[in-house]
Amino acid sequence: MSETIESILEEHRIFEPSSNHQANIASMEQYKSLCSEFSNNFEATWERLANEHLSWKTPFSQVLNQQQAPFFRWFEDGKLNLSDNCLDRHIAAGSGERNAIIWEGEAGEVRRISYHSLLADVCRAANAMRTLGIEAGDRVIIYMPMIPEAAIAMLACSRIGAIHSVVFGAFSPQALRDRIEDTGARLVITADGGGRRGTTHALKPNVDEALSEGCQSVERLLVVRHAGNDIEMNSQRDINWHEALNTEADYCEPLALDSEHPLFILYTSGSTGKPKGILHSTAGYLLWARLTMLWTFDLQPESDAFWCTADVGWITGHTYSVYGPLACGGTTVMYEGVPTYPDPGRLWKICADHHVSVFYTAPTAIRALIKAGNEWPNRHDLSHLRLLGTVGEPINPEAWMWYRNVIGQGRCPIVDTWWQTETGGHMISPLPFATSTKPGSATLPLPGIDAAVVNENGEEVSGDGGLLVLRKPWPSMLRGVWGDDQRYIDTYWHNFDGRYYFAGDGARRDEDGYFWIMGRVDDVLNVSGHRLGTMEIESALVSHPSVTEAAVVGRPHDIKGEAICAFVTLKVEIDDSQAEAAAAELRAHVTKEIGAIAKPDDIRFANNLPKTRSGKIMRRLLRDIAAGREITSDISTLEDQSVVQQLQRAR
Ligand code: WT7
Repeated sequence: MSETIESILEEHRIFEPSSNHQANIASMEQYKSLCSEFSNNFEATWERLANEHLSWKTPFSQVLNQQQAPFFRWFEDGKLNLSDNCLDRHIAAGSGERNAIIWEGEAGEVRRISYHSLLADVCRAANAMRTLGIEAGDRVIIYMPMIPEAAIAMLACSRIGAIHSVVFGAFSPQALRDRIEDTGARLVITADGGGRRGTTHALKPNVDEALSEGCQSVERLLVVRHAGNDIEMNSQRDINWHEALNTEADYCEPLALDSEHPLFILYTSGSTGKPKGILHSTAGYLLWARLTMLWTFDLQPESDAFWCTADVGWITGHTYSVYGPLACGGTTVMYEGVPTYPDPGRLWKICADHHVSVFYTAPTAIRALIKAGNEWPNRHDLSHLRLLGTVGEPINPEAWMWYRNVIGQGRCPIVDTWWQTETGGHMISPLPFATSTKPGSATLPLPGIDAAVVNENGEEVSGDGGLLVLRKPWPSMLRGVWGDDQRYIDTYWHNFDGRYYFAGDGARRDEDGYFWIMGRVDDVLNVSGHRLGTMEIESALVSHPSVTEAAVVGRPHDIKGEAICAFVTLKVEIDDSQAEAAAAELRAHVTKEIGAIAKPDDIRFANNLPKTRSGKIMRRLLRDIAAGREITSDISTLEDQSVVQQLQRAR
């Protein structure tokens, strides 16, 4: 991504915030005073916010317990229920008729679900799960398309204390099986299929395949009928969701759960091995989902229609398609389908049709839509938009400017939000009516968040690039890696004697203290805003019987941010005419092992991979070769010099 980073570093434009006295945080002074409230009295400020913003069944007695750091505990002894905070509370306050969810299917069908009716559905689903014997602490896998039932299933779990783990619907049966086995889930909730590009993408058959091996923990499958594709139902195991819910009462008492009761596990890629199950807990996560909705997106629940385009299979979908908007009593828009179907104006048509006022998407989508041309947004009425957000990867200033001028028509502030699966919610972001913005910068940490850029010794650096860390715990932080405490410590708390949370990103601060995120410093790729571990793709490749060795690196890609480039040595020798077929087979293999999002864009074959004397693969060299850049590594020590030419030539 080097070209983009160069241009980002030369960016000097500044856009002053527009004034809005009604905003939840309406000025820089207000932002600063909240920040100093935190720095003067960290715990008391969190205590105040947790009491003001959450509805408790039993008040908490301790704000932050650091005794077992880095296993921090927040709001201990308090009891509450997340679905109660997202549903019952708003109904009690008189907002029951407000739309909680506006859903649109790819074919254009629309469902509007009020808070009243969402609560009834969530209760029926919770009761149905109870009937199946699911109890607090049990794990439930949710493998669904972007339909309201995905949100209903998540909320139903939270109502009875079951721990959900949503698996992105485009992940393969193998990837699904890995997650089922790691969580030890008793129940899987899925749908027959989902709508994508005018056809049906089958889900239930993938679950059948995943369960055909191992997965002993799974007792039941709840199947939502949605796409209408033919599926087989195993009468011993599978239950029709609609039939199960129909016979249940539409009220279920929300279970009072400990603040630290686990809420969900979400798998994300790291630099080593298999994806890790990031664990989030109830009160802290909920508090931050709500506060960031109010602060970063300035949500006005009575009047806004908020649309986050992320799938619920990712953290962005968890926090900003479901929990954040609902925690505020707002209206969340959900769309099942691809952004360019049937034409590249689809997102803008949805914004116009549902009067979307706050819109949140990834730079990769923006770049793809820029390519499609301005005639698409220009065809639709975007006058309801008042605020725009981006997430997932650095945004190049050109895309930022287009977003501002063409989509926001110069009128809407842009919030470039930096955060991660692990952080639960936004960490660094402008506040739309307080912070001056610079295209490509995530600007400043949110109140309560102590972000810094440090060198290897943990000392703050200014001007130069360094490592992005968070120096104080925060309520929505991950509580661990499911089943692997050591991996949690090693990955996030190893670098600075356990004092700072290490995010895995490089960053730089400018003269105004603004943060510029430079991308991952570990072996994690960011492809279209999706996080993928190079090792994970390498293991998928070497699991193919003809592969001896594989190395995966990223190379810059103008739409996806990064493209996946694999260097492979095979057990048999192939000639150039066979390379294409071999590459196609390996791509299909990776799709089967992980999913289409991990499919390499380029595959290059060679007799050997370039290694140092100590046997380490020379990744920097491979990155240069992949990008077609001049080689900067010292290759004089390379045993087999011809490998470099071979790889440069290979396509
Ligand atoms: C990684 C986290 C949490 C949102 C979706 C991705 C990159 C995220 C930004 C941004 C530059 C960003 C980082 C981070 N990232 N937001 N605004 N600017 N980079 O969640 O899959 O956990 O990935 O996405 O590299 O570490 P994730």
